Amino acid sequence: MDRAKQEAGYRAADCVRDGDVIGIGTGSTVLYAMERIQERIVEEGLNILGVPTSHQAAYRAVEMDIPLTTLDAHPRLNLAIDGADQVDPGLMMIKGRGGAHLREKCVADAADTFIVIVDESKCVQALSGAVPVEVLPFACMPVLRRLTDIGGKGEIRTGSGKDGPVISDNGNIIIDCTFREIPSPAKLERTLACIPGIVESGLFTRYIKKTKLIVGKKEY
Ligand code: A5P
Repeated sequence: MDRAKQEAGYRAADCVRDGDVIGIGTGSTVLYAMERIQERIVEEGLNILGVPTSHQAAYRAVEMDIPLTTLDAHPRLNLAIDGADQVDPGLMMIKGRGGAHLREKCVADAADTFIVIVDESKCVQALSGAVPVEVLPFACMPVLRRLTDIGGKGEIRTGSGKDGPVISDNGNIIIDCTFREIPSPAKLERTLACIPGIVESGLFTRYIKKTKLIVGKKEY
């Protein structure tokens, strides 16, 4: 068990109020939040609905008897709980190590409050390294070329025990694009959004005002 992730996840789950409709992010930290939500449903009769951001989150919610709904039924959410790969001091982040950032961004956008749960290792002074980018398969090679034009080095994500590219829950390809530095994450997010074929990047720079960051500590 990872105590830091568990602490962050449990604290986020304790922010959920009866009657809320919540976005359920993806990843190992969110699984702890779901664990605590399940406990609260059983112990307090907490009445909530969740919009899952991935097959992982949906299947886990079904196993845990957490009731689910959709963004179509609930285009506005009270809050969303999600993890992150890196968070800078200005609350800009990189997400998408699990390839779920497209739906995660839809859910974050729909939520009144975006609760981000991380352990201390995710807090960085400046965002760096690979930015996950979800790409329409039709445009994979042109996107790789355009990423080079803007100073990135894109690599098609493979692995997960499968030959060939990893396919996202939306049927798209994930490219991990490394930049030598990311001086303006907001500008880079906008630049990436303008490349035809890029469905969404893992840069989250537009939700600062509604973001509540919870950092779990190893010792408590
Ligand atoms: C999923 O694609 C990601 O955005 C995750 O939310 C992020 O990678 C954090 O995952 P962990 O909680 O497993 O570190």
